Amino acid sequence: MSLIILSVETSCDETSAAVLVDGTIVKSNIISSQVDVHRKFGGVVPEVASRKHLELINHVIREALDEAGIDFDELDAVAVTYGPGLVGALLVGVAAAKAIAFGLDIPLIGVNHLEGHVSANFLVEPKPNFPVICLVVSGGHTDLVLISGFGQYDLLGATRDDAAGEAFDKVARVLGLGYPGGPLIDKLAASGDDTAIPLPRAYLAGDSLDFSFSGLKTAVINHLHRASQKGFHVNKANVAASFRRAAVDVLVDKTLLAARQHNTGTIMLAGGVAANQLLREEMTRRAHQEARRLIYPPPVLCTDNAAMIGCAAYYKYLRGDFAPLTLNAVPNLPL
Ligand code: KG4
Ligand code: ZN
Repeated sequence: MSLIILSVETSCDETSAAVLVDGTIVKSNIISSQVDVHRKFGGVVPEVASRKHLELINHVIREALDEAGIDFDELDAVAVTYGPGLVGALLVGVAAAKAIAFGLDIPLIGVNHLEGHVSANFLVEPKPNFPVICLVVSGGHTDLVLISGFGQYDLLGATRDDAAGEAFDKVARVLGLGYPGGPLIDKLAASGDDTAIPLPRAYLAGDSLDFSFSGLKTAVINHLHRASQKGFHVNKANVAASFRRAAVDVLVDKTLLAARQHNTGTIMLAGGVAANQLLREEMTRRAHQEARRLIYPPPVLCTDNAAMIGCAAYYKYLRGDFAPLTLNAVPNLPL
């Protein structure tokens, strides 16, 4: 007997629903991005995001079921992201999932968005060799997590200021590249010289596994100010490449340090920034050098999507970890 879970994700600016069988087979993963709506504001506008989710949620769920060829009455459970994220955005998904759970009398599973990002790796490798070090890099988080088993997490380090994705987005904005900045910087950096501009790398004291990206971001802004004051031409590709290299150097070094400290043979990448080309290449090269295995999801499962939520929910289902129908959105839910 297979287990069929419908999952819903609305924590930020993607309205997404997926159907998974046995937590590993993705029957459908519909992602409706609001990027075009928010682009003119230069970032996500929370109130606009909630309204857009409300418009889209029923259609996206319907499409996920249709594409999977599954009827409502075949569902064994419904899962939803309940935090962290934008409260109004989260509430739309939570309300929809609660209505389905109540109407069909099936279990409701509340999923932590970060656990979802991590779990995208279990869609690639359902039987990892625990313990594993996972670098979670998104628009809101930069975390190093020790995973001892499904659902067993220890936070080893986190950013003290900007998240990695936030730094990419802010640097893209000052370069006038547009929104969302991460993929645009990634693309432009490919044609730049990453040694052109000396930029700082914050390693922090001792063997800290924490991160800091605000100094790097400020250094880029200062470079651009100096150039405009002195009338120098700014080579945007070189700035993008130098910034990307500085950010990736620190992310890779600290992830490998964590793997050495905790003696883990496997490393995973998660979150939107895990789609970054240089991060994937550098981590592959360095993990290989140290004879560690590297796992990362395809780009579509790195950025926000409901399939990763369905995967995390499957392991919660197996543990009997269900949510009451009073489940509420928790905007700052920790991992
Ligand atoms: O995980 P995600 O989709 O949403 C959050 O939970 O935050 O991550 C979005 C972040 C954005 O900051 C975006 O600019 C960044 O991931 N991102 C990238 C790339 N693709 C997305 N950053 C660097 N390189 C990329 N290729
Ligand atoms: Zn996310």
